[in-house]
Amino acid sequence: MHIHPDASAVARAFSPDEPVILNRPHAAARAGRFFAEKFPGKSLYAVKANPSPELLRILWDSGITHFDVASITEVRLVRSVLPEATLCFMHPVKPASAIAEAYKIHGVRTFSLDSAEELAKIVAATADDAGEPAADLSLCVRLRVSSEYSELSLASKFGIDLADAAPLLQATRQVADCLGICFHVGSQAMTPFAYVQALERVRAAIVDASVTVDIVDVGGGFPSIYPGMEPPPLEDYFAVIHRAAESLPVSYSSELWCEPGRALCAEYNSLIVRVDKVRGKDLYINDGAYGALYDAAHVGWRFPVRSLAPVQEDTEEGFSFYGPTCDDADYMEGPFPLPADVKAGDYIEIGMLGAYGAAMRTAFNGFGQGAAIEVADEPMSSLYRGDRRDPRVSENVVSLR
Ligand SMILES: Cc1ncc(COP(=O)(O)O)c(C=O)c1O
Repeated sequence: MHIHPDASAVARAFSPDEPVILNRPHAAARAGRFFAEKFPGKSLYAVKANPSPELLRILWDSGITHFDVASITEVRLVRSVLPEATLCFMHPVKPASAIAEAYKIHGVRTFSLDSAEELAKIVAATADDAGEPAADLSLCVRLRVSSEYSELSLASKFGIDLADAAPLLQATRQVADCLGICFHVGSQAMTPFAYVQALERVRAAIVDASVTVDIVDVGGGFPSIYPGMEPPPLEDYFAVIHRAAESLPVSYSSELWCEPGRALCAEYNSLIVRVDKVRGKDLYINDGAYGALYDAAHVGWRFPVRSLAPVQEDTEEGFSFYGPTCDDADYMEGPFPLPADVKAGDYIEIGMLGAYGAAMRTAFNGFGQGAAIEVADEPMSSLYRGDRRDPRVSENVVSLR
């Protein structure tokens, strides 16, 4: 496959009518190696963040052997791409048929749950034809923890409250070969303290239930870098998680796991869009809320942008985007800083879209198509480049604009 130097070269070569996803395999491999080598335990890639088969292979080749899958479609996908991968079904509410297929056909042994009903469902769906319960289950009870330090909350939908956790932990211990506790601090956790606080809740749950715990899974939430959201180095997260986990009352041979989605794939993709119309400070572009820009529309995320126009004014102004569908909600407020003279026909690169970007595309209104092309340059910013300085002592983002 031809590798282009960067987004400008792609825009020049193709003048694309459709949005183009740019892949940076080197960036994803670097992130994979970082977690595989530096996280003080096992890193499960949360496939939902970006299920691209190419990305799954890159992460596998860089040392990520475990995958957090959340639907039977993800189970089948990862199993078909990576026959030897270990799959962990970490959605706390699953159809019985999905559990049975995952266990009996795809070799999945690890499941999460946050209720007695789900526990009963897992036990029934994994029993053999004679009704004999499975003896090789790793079951992770998901604890509800605060999302207060994260940009996107995951505190409402899943997780058992600490006050109710003891009976569920004890019941799960009865049927599990390995018992785990997992949680999710919310996506884009801006401080390592989020994990310390959650692990304190894990400690209380273990003490209350007096059970032996074999797996402590700190979930996802590890951040990436976006304009206005510049987290401390990931090493800080790993160090405090390690310290806090080491002091938990768990079995001597217990394992520490994490489930990063965003941090492993945010740098993998950017997107080329074309400006189809300018109306004051509104740019009508050919991707949007129903395409790869869901977070820009729905949570006001300001992704980094750069103009790919060959000639442009130095002065920048803040613009908002309208996507291509006929829907008013297809709107990304930004502001996105671009040359003041941006015009219809110009191309723009929108960066850091590897996580929850391409994965969120729909076909609404007939849009959502577009090619993927590999480029060799660096992502617009990176958590994994040696030249990134510590944000606590200096301006930290390595911007390549
Ligand atoms: C169970 C679970 N694990 C991991 C993740 C990945 O989270 P993040 O992308 O914030 O790392 C998610 C995201 O929703 C999740 O639900």
